[in-house]
Amino acid sequence: MAASQPSVIGHRGCAAHAPENTLGGFGRAAELGCDWVEFDIQISRDGVPVVMHDANLERTTGLDMPVRFLVARRIAELDAGSWFGPEWRDERVPTLAQALDACAVLGLMPNVEVKYDCGALRRCARAVAAVIAQRWPAGRDRPLVSSFSLRALYWSRLAGPEQPLALLMWQKPVKFWGLHARLLSCRAIHVDASLASQALLDKAHRRGLKVGVYTVNDGALAAELRERGVDYIFSDKPEEMAAT
Ligand code: G3P
Ligand code: MG
Repeated sequence: MAASQPSVIGHRGCAAHAPENTLGGFGRAAELGCDWVEFDIQISRDGVPVVMHDANLERTTGLDMPVRFLVARRIAELDAGSWFGPEWRDERVPTLAQALDACAVLGLMPNVEVKYDCGALRRCARAVAAVIAQRWPAGRDRPLVSSFSLRALYWSRLAGPEQPLALLMWQKPVKFWGLHARLLSCRAIHVDASLASQALLDKAHRRGLKVGVYTVNDGALAAELRERGVDYIFSDKPEEMAAT
């Protein structure tokens, strides 16, 4: 499978085996044979995109503080690994630049998710586009940028006509998602497993869109989804899904 055509994407790195959204997690994903990893982006007070799922730092660093209230230098001091296990205490919250550098070295293709709740969608989407342009090696397939936020996706598209994009959906389909996907020239839709009806899959495929489904950690479900035409799945246990 070519790296540009994923089969399995390690979710937040490989969140079942290493602290989510850390460089150590990306290393573990590569060791497990992943070609692709997904990670999440929030933005710091001084405009630096950082790799963090939640809008608040507490769950993975212990500091009860919104990401957007702290400057990147301060965020970089936090321990983002101990919550997962003491052996991970040296893990930090990576910047997007550090994450892209790590992926390039490890041979991983990134799926960069701009979080809908970052509090500054235009700033964040533009900063993500700028960092990708600066840091991702020229000549390689570009990272895939995704978001639940249509605004973030439109800002991403305005920042770069060549940027591959994916529209994320959860719980229920976004109104007029096919139209938005066409206007945005999306490559794919990424949907929660409960949304992956045959009707939605068929509609996406008729429109030339790939369909990725998150977050699947059960091999039997992954096999069933593939059988029904799902193009790739996101998993916290990517090495188990690769066999399905
Ligand atoms: O991008 C797929 C998946 O990561 C979306 O959900 O909440 O894990 O970021 P979440
Ligand atoms: Mg995500």
